[in-house]
Amino acid sequence: MEIENLSFPEAVEFLARRVGMQVPEEDNDFESKKRSRMLALNKDAARFFYEQLSSPGGAPAREYMQKRRIGPTTAKNFGLGYAPDDWRSLEKAMTAKGYSREELHSAGLVRIKNGSCYDTFRNRLMFPVIDVRGNVIGFSGRILGDGEPKYMNSPETLVFNKSRNLFALNLAKKSKSGYIILSEGNIDVVSMHQAGFDSAVASLGTSLTPEQARLLSRFTNQVIIAYDNDGAGKKAAQRAIGILEKLDLKVKVLALTGAKDPDEYIKTRGPDAFRNLLEGSENQLDYRLRSVVEKYDLGQDAQKVDFLKEATDLVARLPSAPEREVYAMRVATLAGIPADAVISEVRQRRKRLLSKANRDTERQQTRPGRASAPAGRPRYDDEASARAEEGIIRVLLLDPALARDSTLPPPEAFTAPPLAHIYRSVLDRLRQGGEVTTATLGAALSSEEMSLLIRLQDEPLAAANSERALKDYIQKLYECKESKQVPGSPEDLLTLQRKLRERKGYEEA
Ligand code: GTP
Ligand code: MN
Repeated sequence: MEIENLSFPEAVEFLARRVGMQVPEEDNDFESKKRSRMLALNKDAARFFYEQLSSPGGAPAREYMQKRRIGPTTAKNFGLGYAPDDWRSLEKAMTAKGYSREELHSAGLVRIKNGSCYDTFRNRLMFPVIDVRGNVIGFSGRILGDGEPKYMNSPETLVFNKSRNLFALNLAKKSKSGYIILSEGNIDVVSMHQAGFDSAVASLGTSLTPEQARLLSRFTNQVIIAYDNDGAGKKAAQRAIGILEKLDLKVKVLALTGAKDPDEYIKTRGPDAFRNLLEGSENQLDYRLRSVVEKYDLGQDAQKVDFLKEATDLVARLPSAPEREVYAMRVATLAGIPADAVISEVRQRRKRLLSKANRDTERQQTRPGRASAPAGRPRYDDEASARAEEGIIRVLLLDPALARDSTLPPPEAFTAPPLAHIYRSVLDRLRQGGEVTTATLGAALSSEEMSLLIRLQDEPLAAANSERALKDYIQKLYECKESKQVPGSPEDLLTLQRKLRERKGYEEA
C-alpha cells in the first residue's frame, strides 16, 4: 500500500495482477466483466500503438519525437505509441485478437459512421492514460506537428472518466519529491519527467476538477502549479488554487517567465533553472524544515535526536492542527521513525509552548515597563480595543464563512498595528477565496505577527457561538472608538470646543 500508494483493495488487485492470480469479485456481474474486458482491450491497444512506434511505419512519429526531443527511455516509461496513418489498422489488429467491433466502439477506439467503422486515432503520437492501479483507461493522441485538432482524447467510457483521473499520476505517485507538479499539456509532463521532475501530472484536457484534487490529496500535501504562461493558464491557475486549498493542500504557482510552458522553459533554460524555479516556489515552512534537515546528518543517531528536537519545535508552532499533523508525519518520514511518536512529541512541545506563552503574558501584565517577549502578548496602546481586535481575528480564523455574511470593520478601525496587519491579510486571503492558514498567511506576516497569530488561535472565544462572539467584538471595537473619539472633521472640532468650554465653565463654577 505504501510503495504504490494504494488503498487496501487496490493493493490486493495490484499484487494479484502481478502474480497472475484472480481476485474474486464481489459484484461479478455483467458490468464488471465488461469493465475488465475493456481494460484488457485498452492494454492491447496500447501495446499495438507502442509496437507501431518502432516499426518502419512509425517513422513520422519518431521524427516528431526527435523534434520535440523526447528520448526512447522516456517514450518507454510513458508507453508512448503511434497510431498509424490508416483507417483500420487498430481495428484489424484488435479483431484478430478476438475483440468485437462493438467492444472497440464502446471503448472509444473506433467510430462508426453510416454503418462504416474507422479508427478514432490516426497518424497521431499516442499517450496512454494509466490510472493509479496501472490500468490503461484511455488515450490522448497528439497530431504530429501543427493542425487541428491538436489533441484527440478518448471519450468518456465505462472505464474512462476525465474528471477523475490525471495523466501520469501512475508515475508521479511514486516520486520522492514531496510535491506534485500540475501542468496542462501532455508534452509538458513528458518533458518534465525526462528532465528529472518525476512528479509532474496533467489534467486531461479540462481544467482541474474537485475530484482530481481529491485524488491528488491522496498522494501529496503540496501541489506546484505549472500551467501555461498565458492568460488562460493564469486564470486556470487561480481556479485550481481555490480547489486545492479547500482540501488543505499547500499550493504554489511557478512563474515561467520567458517561456510559454514548462516544456519550453526546460528546453531553453535547462533543468537546473527549472529546479531553481521549483525551489523558489516553496512555502516558508517547507523552506524552514528543509534548512533544519540540511543542518544534521540523519544517519547518526545523536544528530537525529537533535534534528527531531528542532523539527518538532518548528511543527509545534503551527497554528492549525491538521497542518501540525501533516508536518509531524513529514518529520517522521525524514527521520525514519513512527509518525505517532512525532505527533505525540509535537503535542507535548506545543503544550509547553502555550503555557510558557501564558506565563510570559502574566509577567508582562505585572511588570508593565518590560518590553514584550516575542512569544508573549504584546502590550497595546489601547488594551480594550486590542482585545476586541484579537477577538475578531480569532473568530474569522475559526469560522471564515462569517466574513461573507457579516459587516466587518475596515482594517483602519484597528488600533494595534500588528493586529491591523494580520486582519488585513486575513481579509485579503478570504476575498481571494483562499483558506486562512499559517502557510497561506506566512508570506505576508512578520515573525512577530506570526507568533501573535499562533497565540490568538489558542485563546477561547468570549461567547459560545462564533457569530455572537463576532458581533460582540465588533460592537466593543466601536465602543472603544467612540469613547475616545479623535476629532477629525470641522464638526468634530466644534463639538470638542463646546465640550471643553462646558467642562471649563463647570470647573470654574
Ligand atoms: P504542445 O506544447 O503545444 O505540444 O502541447 P501540450 O501537450 O503542451 O498541450 P497544450 O498545452 O496545447 O494543451 C493542453 C491540454 O489540452 C492537452 O494536453 C490536451 O489534453 C488538451 N487539448 C489541447 N488541444 C486540444 C484539442 O484540440 N482538443 C482536445 N480535445 N483537447 C485538447
Ligand atoms: Mn505545452
